[in-house]
Amino acid sequence: MQLLRGVIDPELGSDIVDLGMAKGATVSPDGDVVVTIALTTAGCPLRAQIQKDVRTRIESHPGVRSVKLDWTELTAEEKAETMARARWNVREKAPDTEVPPTTRVIAVASGKGGVGKSSVTSNLAAALAARGLTVGVLDADIWGFSLPRMLGVDGRLEGTAEEGEHRKIAPHEKAVGKGLLKIVSMGFLVDDEESALMWRGLMLNRAVQHFLEDVRWGDLDYLLIDMPPGTGDVQMGLARMLPRTELIVVTTPAKGAQKVAARAVSMARKSYLRVAGVIENMSSFTCDHGSTYALFGSGGGEALAADAGVPLLGKVPLEPSVAAGGDAGEPVVLGTGPAAETFRAIAARIVEEAVPPVAMAGCSARMLEAAVAALDARPTT
Ligand SMILES: Nc1ncnc2c1ncn2[C@@H]1O[C@H](COP(=O)(O)OP(=O)(O)OP(=O)(O)O)[C@@H](O)[C@H]1O
Ligand SMILES: [Mg+2]
Repeated sequence: MQLLRGVIDPELGSDIVDLGMAKGATVSPDGDVVVTIALTTAGCPLRAQIQKDVRTRIESHPGVRSVKLDWTELTAEEKAETMARARWNVREKAPDTEVPPTTRVIAVASGKGGVGKSSVTSNLAAALAARGLTVGVLDADIWGFSLPRMLGVDGRLEGTAEEGEHRKIAPHEKAVGKGLLKIVSMGFLVDDEESALMWRGLMLNRAVQHFLEDVRWGDLDYLLIDMPPGTGDVQMGLARMLPRTELIVVTTPAKGAQKVAARAVSMARKSYLRVAGVIENMSSFTCDHGSTYALFGSGGGEALAADAGVPLLGKVPLEPSVAAGGDAGEPVVLGTGPAAETFRAIAARIVEEAVPPVAMAGCSARMLEAAVAALDARPTT
């Protein structure tokens, strides 16, 4: 049931457990899972979306051998309860976060520092935006923030003073091709990296929570979160605040790094976060003369992916242009070369199979509209 909290009914905006649509789950000793889901209307086009989400959440959990979904329809009475719940969520419960329910959330994590999380985050964000998508980027590395530099964005974040509303922060925007990046980082709140250290007293999670709740994200297809190295605090915080977060784990080809990265995977699973895949970074280096060197060893990415039972999304070669692009604020993926091609291929795999965007096509927002209409009709006493 905890895994199912990661499945959102995009139309109603809450998770299917909260909405009372996840009726129950049984697990046999051999790991055969049967889940019963009740939908508002059996013909809802969102059924395919919810089905896929339920399946991927449960299938990738360790110990699961098979998943069977049983579909039923909510009774009239249950439907009324679900609607009341959705309405209550819209009205009473300040939304958990400002991140829209249709946004796919991907946290880029690793076991240890310096393996290329921030490089991967900035390049994938740029690649997804270049495909015409709107991509939020949250730099959760409060003390070692690097995304402002890597994405070439600067300046303090401004509050939006909307009348009668809680003051929100507007993310920095950067157009990439037909798409858009919306970026927040601690780097935009402090004057220099040194004063960032003064925030040490502030709970890391409080800062991330602030970014999730108080940033006016607006429409987003994806939200990419650049995780700080090591600590499991942020992962646990995300599991609480955004249980639908999916992890991409970055590792280097070295066996040592792979072992630490495996810890990030098991930590994620303890908090019921789905691991969507592994990226090996700093893979072999090919020199100008065409010789290839496995400077940091080889096989780490494959081993980790096999171990975790998740796909290896790609292997990014060690290439000076990755570092140069990061320093210049121009992600290499917007240029040419093997690393750029690899990043583009990984972005394509994310969109096409690993973490596809939520497909709302063909689904009317009638239930939410009904909820809002009911709210408007309520006497304002
Ligand atoms: N594929 C690559 N080829 C060459 N250099 C790379 C590659 N990936 C990352 N780098 C460089 O390695 C350094 C560390 O990368 P990055 O900052 O992305 O790692 P990180 O995991 O985010 O580190 P931290 O744990 O400190 O946040 C950077 O200088 C970056 O430019
Ligand atoms: Mg980093």
